[in-house]
Amino acid sequence: MEENTILEKVALNSAVVKFVIYKPLIAKSAKAGQFVILRGREGGERVPVTLVDWDTQKGTITVIIQAIGKSTAMFNSLKEGEKFLNVAGPLGTPVEIKNYGTVAVVGGGVGIAEVYPIARAFKEAGNKVIAVLGARTKELLILEKEMAALCDKTVCATDDGSHGMKGMVTDAIQKLHDEGEKIAAGFIIGPIPMMKFTSRLMDKLGIEPFSSLNPIMLDGTGMCGCCRVTVEGKVRFACVEGPMFPSKTIDFDELIRRTSEYKPQEKELLEMYQKDHVCKCGLH
Ligand SMILES: Cc1cc2nc3c(=O)[nH]c(=O)nc-3n(C[C@H](O)[C@H](O)[C@H](O)COP(=O)(O)OP(=O)(O)OC[C@H]3O[C@@H](n4cnc5c(N)ncnc54)[C@H](O)[C@@H]3O)c2cc1C
Ligand code: FES
Repeated sequence: MEENTILEKVALNSAVVKFVIYKPLIAKSAKAGQFVILRGREGGERVPVTLVDWDTQKGTITVIIQAIGKSTAMFNSLKEGEKFLNVAGPLGTPVEIKNYGTVAVVGGGVGIAEVYPIARAFKEAGNKVIAVLGARTKELLILEKEMAALCDKTVCATDDGSHGMKGMVTDAIQKLHDEGEKIAAGFIIGPIPMMKFTSRLMDKLGIEPFSSLNPIMLDGTGMCGCCRVTVEGKVRFACVEGPMFPSKTIDFDELIRRTSEYKPQEKELLEMYQKDHVCKCGLH
């Protein structure tokens, strides 16, 4: 079996795909909270994605990718039996796993996949784990069954009320608090505004918040400085010191500004890719 081969591909919804990839060395050393950098082809972008699962016996790793731009759309068009050009990792600092008593894991959109291994690690460490899963609508809410099988309690919230409670993850956390859940720490992964407002609420409720930051990354090994974020007034490199940081003092507004810097170029590239794709396959 050649390394980087896609052994399994499953669509979780119209934009999100799960890949099981043959990569024994990464499977052997992966830990919750770490990620890999993928490249699809020579000259292609380096794309960080979270290690969602790994199997040391089979030598496989699992990643879950949401197509939002050119590179992720190209990845999600790869088929079983095809290969990623590079799979580098595991990268980043694993999440510090300890017994807090009760822990909330909060996932928004594809962030649900990213928070899954963290939920599992906290469960294995003896915590009561409450999953709070959020999405715009039912179709976009992934891995509910898997989370429910793992966690002591799972609460879903959708913006349009099509599944679970109507509202945002912050509404669900407030409700859990009002019902008397004594949550000590919360681990949040999702869109930046969601992490910002969830951290603020948790801080107000006496829950220690942590967020996994997603600045633009290049090398992923602390050399280029691309992924710098401000935490407690200090510059930190998310690829090596994170991506998970205590989030009471993260400068989320700076992170939003920096991740939006290349929006026009990203939009143009995606449009060119979609146009090119139509021409090549002639099916759309
Ligand atoms: C540590 C980490 C873990 C991640 N885990 C996952 C995951 O498990 N599943 C998943 O679907 N996505 C994950 N992401 C986000 C993923 O890396 C971006 O969606 C992807 O890079 C977008 O590339 P694109 O060319 O398709 O889109 P583009 O059109 O190039 O970009 C769309 C948006 O994605 C972000 N982005 C672009 N390039 C990068 C880059 N090199 N590094 C980081 N962000 C970038 C920017 O916010 C940008 O506005 C993770 C990001 C980080 C930093
Ligand atoms: S991605 Fe280059 S220093 Fe972090």
